[in-house]
Amino acid sequence: TDKIIITIDGWSSCGKSTLAKQLAKKLGYLYIDSGAMYRAITLYFLRNNIDIADEHKIKQALKNITLEFRVNEYSHQSEIFLNEENVEYIIRDLIIAEKVSEIAALKEVRSFAVKAQQKIGKNKGIVMDGRDIGTTVFPHAELKIFMVADETVRVERRFTEMFDKNPNITLDEIKANIEMRDYIDSHREISPLRKASDAIVIDNTHLTEKEQLEFALGLLKKRK
Ligand code: C5P
Repeated sequence: TDKIIITIDGWSSCGKSTLAKQLAKKLGYLYIDSGAMYRAITLYFLRNNIDIADEHKIKQALKNITLEFRVNEYSHQSEIFLNEENVEYIIRDLIIAEKVSEIAALKEVRSFAVKAQQKIGKNKGIVMDGRDIGTTVFPHAELKIFMVADETVRVERRFTEMFDKNPNITLDEIKANIEMRDYIDSHREISPLRKASDAIVIDNTHLTEKEQLEFALGLLKKRK
């Protein structure tokens, strides 16, 4: 059968990447975490003290950034490289999460990332998750999913994930960060977080990982 494009958008910490990885594995597709691109750009901007009030400085900075996804030969998971450096782990830090939405709202940053994403998806056979994948990056994708979940569940899941790496982190910090990112991501001028009109909603508040995968596979079957 022909390869398609699957987009998964939604609020922060809704389990988008979990479902995207499951689907990609099942279908033998490429999984691309578009949020990792915005996080890696943010890391570069922080490290190099880029003044985001200066359009010229932003453009200059983006010229010096090369992003690449490589599959780890042991875990078989794709990892992001910023100028040849594996930054997959470091970009998950709260320091990055505190800044990323502001940087992802910049016009130059968005067009840089969207172009790169479209290039990666040109041969289809891809599952990409993010905020604007079904609306802006691949508006003609064959299957679009929009994920939602209750905030309490989202905060708890993210907390468990982050606590493993940093036992000093608090539930309140996580909650504040998720709320802030959701607010900025859904209120920005360019490609705000929206459900595409043809996207199907999955609320996974009460779904197990297995159930959500089965639901998504059911959607694929229905397409045929
Ligand atoms: O998916 P993740 O939570 O890692 O994304 C981090 C941030 O990157 C989001 O909060 C959002 O500001 C930005 N992002 C975006 N568009 C995407 C993916 C992520 O603006 N397609």
